[in-house]
Amino acid sequence: MTAKTALVTGANSGMGLATSIELADRGYRVLMACRSRQRGEEALRQVEAAGGSGSAELVLCDLADLSSIRRFADDVHGRTSRLDVLINNAGVVSPKRQETRDGFELALGVNHLGHFLATNLLLDLIRESEAGRIVVVASGAYKAGRIDFDDPHLRERYNVIRSYGQSKLANILFARELALRVYEDGVAVNSLHPGAVLTQLGVNRGTGFGQGVYRALGKLPAFQTPEEGASTAVYLADSPEVEGISREYFYRSRPHRLDRKAEDDQTAARLWAWSEREVGLIP
Ligand SMILES: NC(=O)c1ccc[n+]([C@@H]2O[C@H](COP(=O)([O-])OP(=O)(O)OC[C@H]3O[C@@H](n4cnc5c(N)ncnc54)[C@H](OP(=O)(O)O)[C@@H]3O)[C@@H](O)[C@H]2O)c1
Repeated sequence: MTAKTALVTGANSGMGLATSIELADRGYRVLMACRSRQRGEEALRQVEAAGGSGSAELVLCDLADLSSIRRFADDVHGRTSRLDVLINNAGVVSPKRQETRDGFELALGVNHLGHFLATNLLLDLIRESEAGRIVVVASGAYKAGRIDFDDPHLRERYNVIRSYGQSKLANILFARELALRVYEDGVAVNSLHPGAVLTQLGVNRGTGFGQGVYRALGKLPAFQTPEEGASTAVYLADSPEVEGISREYFYRSRPHRLDRKAEDDQTAARLWAWSEREVGLIP
């Protein structure tokens, strides 16, 4: 039997790296999607050094750049004819308003719109799997969010909670709408909250700003390690226990109740239609 193929976004750091190591350990061929070649190569060496029975490859993708996502999707199509697991894990949070290359607010652009385009461009490969699984790493921070259709890129009223909350609510609404669209193809789509996990989330990659907070938080017992934080994503990707389960939201490897706004199918459909236009999938 050929190895199953999994693709993990944001695979060079935190939970993405821990997920890649665990899936390679379980025999998967892991495509590690990273935006930086240097950080990606370092992470690839860590996965290889962990010595799992599977394999890993680096694929470059900047989710803050639609043209990079299109090149990435072509690259993945050149490497494999089937994807069994897609883990949309990459994420950003920014205290200050920033924009992607295409002028999207950064958190919505990377966490939602970048993954929206990437997933749609990879769907044909996932449909080739006998029982494809898509795992969307969201966050309990969705509770603080709302989809602001009047000002989705938060040009008027930006703050970090509104921005991150909106992007994570979008992750869940996207997963639920996608689950309906791929149900007939036997593809399962679930989202999750990993809990509070000590990673590099929020640390500025260029300046290192935020590193002090990161070190201080590390002294608190409330935080999980990246390996612990990755366990629900790995469970949804690989466990036979969730075979056939789709459109659920998980926390600690168990289905978890959502607030009503995250189960609003009308908003999910509206977000889908808006996202399609925004990333240029339809004119
Ligand atoms: N940590 C928590 O407590 C927590 C709680 C709830 C949910 N989450 C979610 O968990 C997921 C993983 O985050 P983490 O905590 O493991 O943080 P992390 O260590 O900062 O990892 C984030 C990953 O996303 C990548 N990324 C950022 N911008 C990107 C872009 N433009 N294109 C491609 N990749 C990009 C990063 O790459 P670079 O290294 O190149 O920047 C990194 O690999 C995120 O979706 C986050 O929202 C985290």
